[in-house]
Amino acid sequence: MHRMYEEMMNDADAGYLLAEEKAARYFAALYEQVAEKSYVSVLTEDFQLWKQKHIRRPSWLSLFSQIKRKPDQRDYNAYIQWLDYTGKLDDYLDRSVSYLYMRDLGQAPNSPDTQMRIQRMSADIKKQLLHSSKAKRGEQPELISLAGLYRWGQKEGIETAVIWLIHKLRKVAAHIPEGMDAEQAQRKLIKIILGVVLHVMEDMGDKAPHEERSRRLDEAIRLGYSYGLTYPFIDDLLDSQVLTPQEKKRYSHLIRTALLTGTVPKMGDWSGNNMELIRYVHTELREAFEYIKGYQRPEAQKTFFQQSYVFFHSQEMDRMKDLSNVDYSNENLYIPIILKSSSSRLIARSVLSAAEDEGFDQRTFYYGIYNQLADDFADMFDDMRDGAVTPYTYYLKYREQRPDLINPFELYWAVISHLIHHVYQSDPKSREVILDRAINGLKRCRERVGAEKYNEIMAIFTSDIPEFNHLIQYMVRKAVDVDFFDKLLRDQVIASLKNDRKDKEDFSATIEKVRHQINSTLQIAKHNGMPPMKEPLIDAANYSLNGDGKRLRPILTWVMGVRQYGLDAAAIMPLLRSLEYMHTASLIFDDLPTQDNASARRGRPTLHEVHNSSTAELTGLLLIQRATQEQASLSQEQFDPKTVLALMRYSAQKAEDLCMGQMMDLNSKGQALTLEQLNTMCFYKTGIAFEACLVMPAILAQGPEEEIAALKKFAYHTGIAFQIKDDLLDLEGDVHLLGKPVGKDAENNNSTFVTVLGREEAAKEMWNHYCLAMDALKELPRGNAFLKHLLDYIVHRER
Ligand code: IPE
Ligand code: IPE
Ligand code: MG
Ligand code: MG
Ligand code: MG
Repeated sequence: MHRMYEEMMNDADAGYLLAEEKAARYFAALYEQVAEKSYVSVLTEDFQLWKQKHIRRPSWLSLFSQIKRKPDQRDYNAYIQWLDYTGKLDDYLDRSVSYLYMRDLGQAPNSPDTQMRIQRMSADIKKQLLHSSKAKRGEQPELISLAGLYRWGQKEGIETAVIWLIHKLRKVAAHIPEGMDAEQAQRKLIKIILGVVLHVMEDMGDKAPHEERSRRLDEAIRLGYSYGLTYPFIDDLLDSQVLTPQEKKRYSHLIRTALLTGTVPKMGDWSGNNMELIRYVHTELREAFEYIKGYQRPEAQKTFFQQSYVFFHSQEMDRMKDLSNVDYSNENLYIPIILKSSSSRLIARSVLSAAEDEGFDQRTFYYGIYNQLADDFADMFDDMRDGAVTPYTYYLKYREQRPDLINPFELYWAVISHLIHHVYQSDPKSREVILDRAINGLKRCRERVGAEKYNEIMAIFTSDIPEFNHLIQYMVRKAVDVDFFDKLLRDQVIASLKNDRKDKEDFSATIEKVRHQINSTLQIAKHNGMPPMKEPLIDAANYSLNGDGKRLRPILTWVMGVRQYGLDAAAIMPLLRSLEYMHTASLIFDDLPTQDNASARRGRPTLHEVHNSSTAELTGLLLIQRATQEQASLSQEQFDPKTVLALMRYSAQKAEDLCMGQMMDLNSKGQALTLEQLNTMCFYKTGIAFEACLVMPAILAQGPEEEIAALKKFAYHTGIAFQIKDDLLDLEGDVHLLGKPVGKDAENNNSTFVTVLGREEAAKEMWNHYCLAMDALKELPRGNAFLKHLLDYIVHRER
């Protein structure tokens, strides 16, 4: 074993050395350009050509263009509409997609075939954008919502992989420790997955038959995740301060061994605060490794692991640098960067076992450092604060003391010149896109840090190239049409992840708070002078009420009533009680031997198990009567009695509907219901109650009809999604979390989504209803973050 490890180690080192030599040659060429400042004259000429499209001559027409001013990019939909209105959208998408083809797909935009593909993809995106940009102001882009993702999955026939991914991403989000930037980590992972998916799409073109296309996209998603995981859980984790130095050492040895042997070794004994985290990461990584290996041909596997090793090792070399060390040579600083930035992109393709492509490898190898230097430039101050060594921080710190240090900003332009003229053979389109990107990067930096600080930075990095700097700064101030779609998406993803987290915290806090309030008011009191014969019945009712129910229905009513319609929280308490009483009664009946014959509910034996069926039946009836009393006791000062009567009539009608749903359920045992029948049954037995909870506050507040109609639509799909999840949990849930038995539906020969359609199809139906419920939410005029999170909660719940 030990020998084998050593051999592999030697192999890997040899591979690394080879890559290192190549990087050294590249660096030498760049160095020469900086030393001789040859890039300056070359790029000056390029900018002269470039500016024709980007520097607008002032004209009286520009007065008019003020009429429709460029909106803030944070308002995504308005921005897209503006681009369309001003006729800029085509160019915008073309440069964005071209850039993607160069950076992520390693293509040269001057080949006619690539041009065609770029055009096709731009047209696709345009169609999609114009279709969805009519959405409300401030709404998040369709493309980055779960519903948008699932819809895409439906179109491509890869729903199962998308559902799988949604669950995986959720788990990742839940496991990113404090002390790591959660949003950035998630964004990177998403970006890698997208990158791998794009590689596959690119590889297939549009000729692949639907089935093959689905299969390959399904694999790409799983591969992308498997590989992308390494970003948050290897790279970022080791960069952060989450693990102790000893843990880091151990962890990085584990990863190194995994890359060398192609198998994730056993985790061994970990203790301390990070044990849970490591256990999760270890399981995920092992699964990911196995997936990648299972997918790849043996030859491709070798390349993959070799490149991964180069990636990991160069990262490690980089990470180990210490800002207090004054002795790093230029080579020490730049070669690992060239290696890590290029190998990461090469892996994204090799993970797919794609055919070897010399041109791709070359272009990708030269490209990486461009992005790395652009990123390091943007993060310069954060890195300085964290004491991280990058070419920029190191230069900032030691430039006086070490005149031999190369200026990273100059090197950055040398890379650009090298890319345009050596990698893309002075192709005009490549020049256009690369210079757009470079100027855009500086513009963004200027906006972010402010003009003053920006000028300070520039003064430091351009003291040797005053004229060239003058030219660049002119472009930064004056050039137009250099924005990119991927940057827009990136900002949107970060903003939406951040927002989402805030909303989710608010959602959980609200749920907790209201549940607490409801729990404290559910008990049915025993009055003085009550006939003693009634006491056992009330005790029985309280027994069922005291179980650990989620109280979802009254919580929903509270949120709608208090938050949306501004009703008085104390005044609607009787309504909340009535809803939970009716719901609890429905559970008591549902569990009876004549119905589902269940022995446990809400973490304790069912009522008929504790007493007997007749007690349970009578308790159910009592609870329903009590619900009516509660509704009748709604304050006459707060609510018009006519409105209360309307509410009670509605409530009674819905309770009847529920009975009908249960009847359909019980009468359909063993029958292969159609999808339509399943939907109808679930709507009546479950959806109706959700509808009532949403609509009753609207009735009390006399809300507008259209709003009530939208609420009903939302309730319809949410209710069915809730029941499908319940059916799924009956199949694969955890008894202890659920507090009720599992496997009941199969045992009773019930006809449910799961028993009729099977697990996978049932999950698809659930997500379909999720999307439809999200659509309904868009029709609601008021803020609906709570309902959105409720829906998320429902499809992800474990109890
Ligand atoms: C269970 O409802 C009955 C169904 C409609 C599936 P809940 O899952 O909301 O049950 P509790 O109230 O939390 O116990
Ligand atoms: C119950 O559906 C619906 C109502 C109680 C109205 P289920 O029979 O699937 O609910 P559980 O699984 O027993 O909670
Ligand atoms: Mg039932
Ligand atoms: Mg049941
Ligand atoms: Mg059930």
